[in-house]
Amino acid sequence: MKVQSIRGTHDILPGSVELWQKIEAAARDLFALYGYAEIRTPVLEETELFARSIGLETDIVRKEMYTIEDSKGKSITLRPEGTAPVVRSYIENGVHSEVQVAKLYYIGPMFRHERPQKGRYRQFHQIGAEVLGSDNPAIEAEVIEMLFRLLQQLGLEEYCLLINSVGCPVCRPAYVNKLREELRAHADELCEECRRRTETNPLRVLDCKVPSCQPVINRLPAITDYLCEECKEHFSLFRKYLDIQGIPGEITPRLVRGLDYYVRTTFEIISSRLGPTQNALVGGGRYDGLSELIGGPPTKGFGFALGMERLVLLLSGRSELGAPYQAPAPEIFLVHLDSAAFEHNLKLAAELRREGISAYIDFEGKSIKSQMRQANRQNATFTCVVGESELQTDQFVLKRMADGSQVTLRRSEISEYLRKEN
Ligand code: HAM
Repeated sequence: MKVQSIRGTHDILPGSVELWQKIEAAARDLFALYGYAEIRTPVLEETELFARSIGLETDIVRKEMYTIEDSKGKSITLRPEGTAPVVRSYIENGVHSEVQVAKLYYIGPMFRHERPQKGRYRQFHQIGAEVLGSDNPAIEAEVIEMLFRLLQQLGLEEYCLLINSVGCPVCRPAYVNKLREELRAHADELCEECRRRTETNPLRVLDCKVPSCQPVINRLPAITDYLCEECKEHFSLFRKYLDIQGIPGEITPRLVRGLDYYVRTTFEIISSRLGPTQNALVGGGRYDGLSELIGGPPTKGFGFALGMERLVLLLSGRSELGAPYQAPAPEIFLVHLDSAAFEHNLKLAAELRREGISAYIDFEGKSIKSQMRQANRQNATFTCVVGESELQTDQFVLKRMADGSQVTLRRSEISEYLRKEN
C-alpha cells in the first residue's frame, strides 16, 4: 500500500508556495515597520501549558490536542496555537525585565485534531503577533490597523471586523451566573454538549454552531450589558481608537472565542467567502492574566493569529489548497548537443548564476528535442543551444521562447544581455 500524507495535512508544492512566501514576506516587512521582532518557539510544549492557558473546558484542550507521553512519562503536546508558547518564552527568557513592551510575531504550523473540511485542517499555519506589557486600548487598535494594512496590501477584499468585550474577573462572574440561569431554564432546547457546558463553562455555549441551539442562544443576555466600569471604559476607548484609525468594527456580543484566556477586548476578522461556519480569517484579543496562569509575573497581553490556509484560499480564489507542481522558471535554459558542450554549459551556468541570472541545464543526457520540451515546460525565458560550432565560432544564439525572436551574441556578452533584458 502506498504511504500517503495524514488526513488534514497538506503539501505546499512549488507553484503554490510562492503565494505563501509572498504573504510571509509582506507580513515580515510590515510587522518590522511597527516594531515587531520574530520569535520562534518549539512545536512541542508541555501539555500543562495549553491545559492551563487555553482552558480545560475548551474544545481545543478537551478534544483537539495531539498529546503523547514521552519515554519519561511526561505529557507533551504539539502546539495548537502560538500565544501560550510566546508568553511562556517571554517569561522563561526574562524578556519582561528587558523591555517595558515586547512586540513579537511568529509564523509557523499549529496542530488541532479537528474534522477536516475546506479551511479547516489538522496541521495549519498561523501568522501571529503578540504585544506583551501594555494594557492600553490604543495598542489594540494599532494591532488591528496593522492587520488591515497587511490584508489591503495583499489585495484582499470583502472582510469585516467583529469586536466584543468579554469582561474581566470582576464583572464576568455575574454574567456567567446569569447565563447559567437562563441556560438551565431552557436546558431541554439545548444539545447535549451545551447542557454540559451550562454547568462547566456557560460562555462556551455562545460558540455552539448546532442549529437547534440557536434560538436559545439568540435570546441570551449580552455580555456587554454586564461590564464593570473599567471594562466599559476600556471598550469605549478601544472603539474610539479604532475610529481614529478609520476602521469600522461591528460589535458582536456573542463573540467569546474558543479559548478561555481572553479578558476584555476580543475580535475576529471574518470573510463570508470562507463559508458559513469556518469564516474566521483572524482571531485575537486581550489575555491579561495568562502569564500568571502559567506561573509568570502579572503581564498584560494582546495579540492575534491569522490562518494562512484561509488567507491563501481567499487570495488564490481556489476552492482547494494547492496547485499542480510547477518547476521554477529559469531565465535561460542551456541546451547541449554533445559532452563537450555539456561541460562548457556547466561552467557557463555557474558564471551566469554568479551574476544573479538563473540558469538551468539538463543532467539526464536527453536529446535536443526533449531538452527544448523541458525548457518550454519550465517556462524558460531564453534557450541557447550549444554545440561544436558555437564553441568554435564563439557565436551563441539566444532564443526568446515567448515569440521565437533570436539574438546572436559572443559568450562574453551573454550575461550582460540577460541582465539588461531582465
Ligand atoms: P484561533 O481563533 O483559535 O486563535 O485561531 C486563529 C486563526 O487560526 C483562525 O481564525 C483561523 O484562521 C486559523 N485556524 C484555527 N484553527 C484552524 C484549523 N483547524 N485549520 C485552519 N485554520 C485554523 C488563536 O489561535 C489565538 N492564539 C489567537 C491569539 C493570538 N489571541 C491572542 N493572540
